[in-house]
Amino acid sequence: MHFLSQVLEDYLVSHSQEEPKILEELTRETHLKVIQPRMLTGQFQGRVLSLLSKIINPRYILEIGTYTGYSAICLSEGLQSNGQLHTIDINPELFDMQRAYFDKSGFGEQIHQHVGDALDIIPSLDHTFDLVFIDAEKKKYDNYLEAVLPKTKSGSVILSDNVLQSR
Ligand SMILES: C[S@@+](CC[C@H](N)C(=O)[O-])C[C@H]1O[C@@H](n2cnc3c(N)ncnc32)[C@H](O)[C@@H]1O
Repeated sequence: MHFLSQVLEDYLVSHSQEEPKILEELTRETHLKVIQPRMLTGQFQGRVLSLLSKIINPRYILEIGTYTGYSAICLSEGLQSNGQLHTIDINPELFDMQRAYFDKSGFGEQIHQHVGDALDIIPSLDHTFDLVFIDAEKKKYDNYLEAVLPKTKSGSVILSDNVLQSR
């Protein structure tokens, strides 16, 4: 479902930072090779994620729902130089494509992929996250939130994608 009209979306894109080339390439390859490309973070949303991450300048980021890696790369743009982004996806078939783009993005060494159900993996993560991005199965958002709260601290920011979708 599109919440923004095409005219508004075009306006936002044309008045926002240009999309990095690697993300254009990732979007194209996702549309060519991966099912459900509508799951991709869009260009404008990606620039907003990048901006928020740069403002927060997190040491540790957690992402639930990697898909082909678009939002993980956007969020990594704001990481501290010694920071890490941990991203979880239940679909093992996406792992190699994610890794190829993470390495190409220059953030490869800072991005840690986890394969499995986020609800099983989150309790095993040993960090306190400054920024969390929830973008997996919409009906489990309450469960993801409960799972991540013990891994955050006062001042941590939790972003949720499409909270009004599929409810
Ligand atoms: C909307 S896509 C994520 C889009 C991605 N953040 C991006 O920007 O391109 C949702 C992803 O969540 C994954 N997923 C669904 N349920 C999950 C779960 N329980 N644990 C981890 N990943 C899950 C799916 O395999 C899918 O790749």
